Amino acid sequence: MAINADSLAQLRGILVKSKRFVFLTGAGISQESGIPTFRGNGGLWKTHDPAKLATLSSFHENPSLVWGYYSYRQKLISKCQPNPAHLAISKIKEQKKGDSWVLIQNVDNLHRLAGSKNIIELHGNIFKLSCIRCGYSGYMDMDMVLPPKCTNCESVLEPCVVMFEEALPQKEWATSIELSFSCDLVFIAGTSLNVSPVNTLPSYAKDNNAVLAEVNPEETWLSRFMDFSIKGSSADVLPNIYNLMK
Ligand SMILES: NC(=O)c1ccc[n+]([C@@H]2O[C@H](COP(=O)([O-])OP(=O)(O)OC[C@H]3O[C@@H](n4cnc5c(N)ncnc54)[C@H](O)[C@@H]3O)[C@@H](O)[C@H]2O)c1
Ligand SMILES: [Zn+2]
Repeated sequence: MAINADSLAQLRGILVKSKRFVFLTGAGISQESGIPTFRGNGGLWKTHDPAKLATLSSFHENPSLVWGYYSYRQKLISKCQPNPAHLAISKIKEQKKGDSWVLIQNVDNLHRLAGSKNIIELHGNIFKLSCIRCGYSGYMDMDMVLPPKCTNCESVLEPCVVMFEEALPQKEWATSIELSFSCDLVFIAGTSLNVSPVNTLPSYAKDNNAVLAEVNPEETWLSRFMDFSIKGSSADVLPNIYNLMK
């Protein structure tokens, strides 16, 4: 896919001048690491029903089915590596040395493996477990067939992934709103912006006259509100921008 060189050069200029910027990423950024997205071409929800697998009520109705789904995804994700998009984000942040953040909807740990600092995990981490009753948190053993019980309070532990019908972690969400209100650039990559409330963050940034940029091979419902909507894969576009900054 041809990428508009003028847009990349303009974005590079905005990044260089930025005082505080945030990346906002989603499943699409890890697609080229081999992890399927939920929506878009080849997305998991074309063949699986989210209501049966990724809701809090489905976990309570059929814990072994939902547990099996998360342990299947965890095994798949554990074999995947960061791709050039995760690495470019880490290098752009490092190059700028300033105030920059990565707000992530992904649960796959790949931004951390790519070396990014200031990561905010808005939808949890698939390698962790938590107890909603007492707050215990630990690591998930992929080979367990059923969710284990909490060693403190005997409640059934949940995968530390925000399911539909569940609230976002409060501290992470509050920090993300604050950052969106105060940044001068939101660089969005690989998200359909269909999942609420994360998809409201760009509008907070717009209220502060921040620049909105998006990288996605497909149109999203917010594309027309973007200052830059770059049609392409994140593993192509982000390294291109980093190369312009060097
Ligand atoms: N890797 C993961 O951790 C993972 C994978 C699937 C879903 N999820 C979860 O599912 C929810 C879904 O929301 P979402 O918006 O993140 O994903 P989504 O599945 O709704 O949308 C994915 C988007 O990525 C785009 N895309 C596909 N390939 C791309 C590429 N190579 N480069 C750039 N963009 C590409 C698609 O066009 C689509 O708009 C999130 O909460 C996330 O936690 C996570
Ligand atoms: Zn507990």
